Amino acid sequence: MKREVWNTRTGFILAAIGSAVGLGNIWRFSYIAYENGGGAFLIPYLVALLTAGIPLLILELGVGNKFMGSAPVALKRAKKGFEWIGWWGVIASFIITTYYSVIAGWSLVYLLKAFTLGWGLDTGSFFNNELLHVSDSPWNLGGFSYPVLIGLLTTWLIIWIIEKRGVQAGIEKSSKIFMPLLWILLIVLVLRAVTLEGSINGVEWYLKPDFSKLTDVKVWQAAYGQAFYSLGLGMAIMIAYASYLPKKSDLINNAFIVGLADGAFSFTMGFAVFGTLGYMAYAKGVGIEEVVAQSIGLTFVVLPEALNMLPGLKVLTAVAFFMSIAIAALTSLISLVEAFASAVMDKFEMRRSKAVDITIGLELLFSLIYATKAGIYWLDIIDHFINTYGLILVGVLEAVAIGWIYGADKIREWANTYSDIRAGIWWDICVKIITPAVLLYIIYKETLSNLA
Ligand code: PFF
Repeated sequence: MKREVWNTRTGFILAAIGSAVGLGNIWRFSYIAYENGGGAFLIPYLVALLTAGIPLLILELGVGNKFMGSAPVALKRAKKGFEWIGWWGVIASFIITTYYSVIAGWSLVYLLKAFTLGWGLDTGSFFNNELLHVSDSPWNLGGFSYPVLIGLLTTWLIIWIIEKRGVQAGIEKSSKIFMPLLWILLIVLVLRAVTLEGSINGVEWYLKPDFSKLTDVKVWQAAYGQAFYSLGLGMAIMIAYASYLPKKSDLINNAFIVGLADGAFSFTMGFAVFGTLGYMAYAKGVGIEEVVAQSIGLTFVVLPEALNMLPGLKVLTAVAFFMSIAIAALTSLISLVEAFASAVMDKFEMRRSKAVDITIGLELLFSLIYATKAGIYWLDIIDHFINTYGLILVGVLEAVAIGWIYGADKIREWANTYSDIRAGIWWDICVKIITPAVLLYIIYKETLSNLA
């Protein structure tokens, strides 16, 4: 079977940015920056991006492109015993799709509601009672929450249509529509946020630099964790995407473009998020620390409440916010699904159409658990563990297997062949020493706190 290829380099870059820019950029980055030194956090973040994020991205692109296969097959071609590392990443991707799809489904429900601000005045009650119908314990599944189920099935239908059409007509074409739209929405949201009264206070909280935090190890740990999560490394995604690139590709430049665009999106989105929170605090006459929230609570409870309070352009802003969240989630989900589907195609020499049906069928089946009334409990638990023992651990394994055992220099040579910027010995140091050391430290710390 002939391997599919991207139609254009831009198409690949847009798809890779679509993969990287996800919920992590919208609800994770700004809060982590706020908690870890504000503007000063940009320093550890940039360092993390340059010493681990982008170097490991180059490694993943190199492996996928050199061995022309999705993660398990590509790693096996590097060395027989490495196949399982690829499967570990692929399975972690699989597990993430099962709940990421549910969150994408919620976003679609909110996007629909945004046209009428249909979440009402008590946004917490809307989310917990009307949307999720949260049960009293994880063991009480209590049947499906139907609005969630409908959002979830719609999400899978969209992903299925795109995935069935293949790399060029599906993933690439949809990225060419979704990505420009997402960046336009970002600009609209930032402009709206910063023209609100009180927004400056929010932005000040987001960016007020606290340089004393730079000596705190926790801040550095957060920066490396965020850079890693945001690029979706260790998830077998970038290996699969790079396997669809022609052999004469500028991998290093591509890695820098994707890594920096992802960071730029997060940083800019922070103005929209914290600007809006600043306005909300001002309108309520309270300090920002009383309205600030993170992840799910921020997006589905605090944000709708802030949108309710806007002095004008409520519907437009609400639609823009949830459209951007939905697009960010969908384009990342496509890549997570592709990581698994491409592994199935390569391993069993299966046609795309069949592999996609099997992949999405299984992912949909497992995602149903999160559409039950106890779904949110399971989502929290799985999300907590998969990040540490999925992507971070696979990142370490990749760095050791390819960096030390296979030989970083061989991948470097490959990546350098057609690249404008050439990777020097600095890259070997990042991949062989800095990345595994920092990631191992994160795993160690996380494990300690899980045991406590
Ligand atoms: N990179 C995307 C995000 O930041 O949301 C998608 C993603 C990748 C999510 C890996 C989760 C993950 F573990």
